[in-house]
Amino acid sequence: MSAGYRVVLWTPYKKRHDAVLALAVALYLGCFVALGLTRDPSTTIETQLIRGFGTCALVLLHLILAIGPLARLDSRFLPLLYNRRHLGVTMFLLALAHGGFALVQFHAQGDVHPLVSALSSHGSLVTQSRFPFELLGLLALLWLFLMAATSHDFWLANLTAPVWKALHMGVYVAYGLVVLHVALGALQDPGQPVLRAGLPIGFAVLATLHLVAGSREVAADREAPQAAGGGGMASRDDGFVAVCRVGEIPEERATLVVLAGERVAVFRYRDVDGRQRIAAVSNVCRHQNGPLGEGRIVDGCITCPWHGYQYRPEDGASPPPFTEKIPTFRVRLDGDLVLVDPRPLAPGTHSEPAIHHDAPAAGPAAVES
Ligand code: HEM
Ligand code: FES
Repeated sequence: MSAGYRVVLWTPYKKRHDAVLALAVALYLGCFVALGLTRDPSTTIETQLIRGFGTCALVLLHLILAIGPLARLDSRFLPLLYNRRHLGVTMFLLALAHGGFALVQFHAQGDVHPLVSALSSHGSLVTQSRFPFELLGLLALLWLFLMAATSHDFWLANLTAPVWKALHMGVYVAYGLVVLHVALGALQDPGQPVLRAGLPIGFAVLATLHLVAGSREVAADREAPQAAGGGGMASRDDGFVAVCRVGEIPEERATLVVLAGERVAVFRYRDVDGRQRIAAVSNVCRHQNGPLGEGRIVDGCITCPWHGYQYRPEDGASPPPFTEKIPTFRVRLDGDLVLVDPRPLAPGTHSEPAIHHDAPAAGPAAVES
């Protein structure tokens, strides 16, 4: 909700999450080094640690990329999504330790700079087995650094959401670079059965998860009432579209509809006077594009299910002192039929939520807008 600097809230859950993460990383490194030295006593503990840091970063990178689609497929994974940034920073630190130690261990003994030595030791950009794979690792590390350094909400607010999002979507570029780094580096040597099998399996799992989650969303959009192109509910003369009945919207929650290709969350809630209100806002949270339609009304505000950013239903603005704003939509009722104007209003524009009288004393159903 804040456009400025906000202190990270260290909830007990976050602390537990980070403690489990630190323990798992320590356990992984301990087991990796012990197993590696047992299987190949000719290697040093430093070499095994370098490999342990690298593979641990690779495993975490897979986990990070899997959390998004998993959370979309099953809400029980949502808590992992809230803490994905801590996973990201941990992954970067492991990759940094891996890259840094690799430079010292393999390239610091000569009289040229370790970076120059690493990038020139293999010598050929066209021969697969002699490709300078460290260059790919270095590029991935630089991108991961940019993401880790800008992971705080301070940067999200200052870089603006679209720039921040584009930068962080680059994690897929970093993933591609790391896959090539490993395929053209470590996997050029015979052996490495776990890594050899794990890399394509990891890629297949990630691709499948993204495809399944994506196709579920497309199917959900198709099932949602469509104002245009979907053959759904009809448009009125004034452009308003009938999207659902009041009773179909869960109390203090929303129903998702697709209007002119955009997802719109139509909320039903009680105002301070106990009247039943219907309001429509964009489904996209200003923070990290969380699905507001899956959120709830808390203290009179639409509350994002991902990290709790809040917006007033009547104008899509975050309550002071916060300054985020989302687009709103005009809503009116025809009996208990909810009609929404598919043309979004500018973010933060007031649009009076419709009032629905649930138990009219007599006559036809009350209609107000
Ligand atoms: C400055 C950047 C980097 C450098 C100089 C570097 C260097 C190296 C070197 C020399 C190896 C071969 C190690 C060996 O065979 O003993 C290696 C392997 C590897 N690297 Fe990197 N790397 C960098 C970045 C990264 C990043 C960002 C990741 C992942 C996020 C990564 C993941 C791996 C993995 C998984 C292996 C295979 C480990 C194994 O053999 O078990 N590297 N890297
Ligand atoms: S996406 Fe983070 S609060 Fe909405």
